[in-house]
Amino acid sequence: MRRFGGLLLAAIAAVSATAQHPVRARNAMVVAQEPLAADIGLEVLRSGGNAIDAAVAVAFALAVTHPAAGNIGGGGFLLARFADGGTAFLDFRERAPKKAHRNLYLNAEGRLTGESITGWRACGVPGTVRGLELAHKRHGRKSWAELLAPAVRLAREGFPVSWHLADSLRTARNLAEFPESRRIFQRDGNYYEPGEPLVQPELGATLERIAQAGAAEFYEGETARRLAQEMRQHGGLITLEDLREYRAVEREVLRSAYRGYEILTAPPPSSGGVGLLQMLGMLEGSGYERGGFGAATTIHFVAEVMRRFYADRSEFLADPDYFPVPLGRLLDPGYLSRRRRSIDPDRATPSEELRPGEGLMAESEQTTHLSIVDPEGNAVALTYTLNGSFGSGVAVPGLGFLLNNEMDDFAAKPGAPNMFGLVQGEANAIEPGKRPLSSMTPTIVLREGKLFLVLGAPGGARIINGVLQVLLNVVDFTMNIQDAVDRPRFHHQWKPDTLFMEDGFSPDTVELLVRRGHRISRISSVALVEAIMAHEGRLEGATDRRGHGKAAGF
Ligand code: GLY
Repeated sequence: MRRFGGLLLAAIAAVSATAQHPVRARNAMVVAQEPLAADIGLEVLRSGGNAIDAAVAVAFALAVTHPAAGNIGGGGFLLARFADGGTAFLDFRERAPKKAHRNLYLNAEGRLTGESITGWRACGVPGTVRGLELAHKRHGRKSWAELLAPAVRLAREGFPVSWHLADSLRTARNLAEFPESRRIFQRDGNYYEPGEPLVQPELGATLERIAQAGAAEFYEGETARRLAQEMRQHGGLITLEDLREYRAVEREVLRSAYRGYEILTAPPPSSGGVGLLQMLGMLEGSGYERGGFGAATTIHFVAEVMRRFYADRSEFLADPDYFPVPLGRLLDPGYLSRRRRSIDPDRATPSEELRPGEGLMAESEQTTHLSIVDPEGNAVALTYTLNGSFGSGVAVPGLGFLLNNEMDDFAAKPGAPNMFGLVQGEANAIEPGKRPLSSMTPTIVLREGKLFLVLGAPGGARIINGVLQVLLNVVDFTMNIQDAVDRPRFHHQWKPDTLFMEDGFSPDTVELLVRRGHRISRISSVALVEAIMAHEGRLEGATDRRGHGKAAGF
């Protein structure tokens, strides 16, 4: 026993922790990051709507009840798998306005100005309303107006502010910088107390117009005109033409397999799906799981895999409409096997020594996620975002909604870290009309051709590693879905050369990782995963204990 020291003890301690139980239901399940919105989704399903209907209703409701990330002023991705086996991936990621250019956020000395993070100039052209309308037109069943009605009501009549929302509104420094945001969300310094109603009449009116006239209202109607006018007045970049030309697009679902499970996930302009598949490809067959969950050997190997993917992310991933992403080569089993073989089981590879694409063949509280399964077996994983918490901090006067700061997901200065500390290269430099590279990873997993997992997360650069670890916890460590979501996680993103670890790992384990050469830093959370597992004829829903969401089913 002594011979194995802390390593064995750590593994035992992790495996014997008390299991948490998911919410169980026979027919349908909604998991979202805010309870009122989750209940609205469930009501849509109960009254005959399908998973797409529910996703549309929940997304609009979150724009009211979860203003840090729920939005109509941002963008995202929706992945669906239908009961007949069909799939769809909708990309409604923001685009750079036409006036944007490579050096938009650099001052005369070539230094970053910070304008990609806060204020009117940080915003990409929003995609959410077009994306939700596209999803509804192609796959919805209920009327558009019916799906927006709960959001309109919540905005007009108000809803009680939760403890969590009260805290986040009070402490949001970016909201305090803009008079309209400070008035709506911080009552000019007379902050909302838990239990007080938050009423948003301007947002209610905007949503009502969208309910009546569809997405055209947001992109060409009164909303568009006022937004463009305010942009002009405040030195912002988005014009009426940018709004009118915005389109959500359907892209091919990214697919692969891991240990016999079929993985459906997000293609570029997200890096999430490529990351997930690259990392699974490096892990498969490595035997990394033999140490057990939470063992230093396990964490070391997975962290090395993470490091290798994020190095590639920095150079080879971007909007595929602007950059030839070498998808086939990044996911080539031969390449992944060479990357796997470059991992030393006993030593961390210094990031400085690890080049993106080595061995690649020569050719070349900020985001939010919801997972839904309806009674017919249709499934939706939708992740959308304002980027940072409350986005750019800007609420458009008279319209009541917050705008994103998605321009910071570009490499504002290739080689310099963005707000997530991500170092990105030329491929993701700013160009007019381009979509910034994302990490959002809405994912669906099939087992023997049947729906098995629906999952995704907010968490910026950490999203991909959060989704990866929940999937590994289920497939390789046979946890139930709640346990898989709740267990402590870690994160490595190549640069900085640091292994970020949540609380909950044993000090022995951390010590063993330090001895392997990892520089360790504590992190409060690695993504907030919202997941559903279809299992033994029932649905099991898990909202992440790190957040304040709800899993609800019937
Ligand atoms: N804004 C976070 C992401 O898309 O990765």
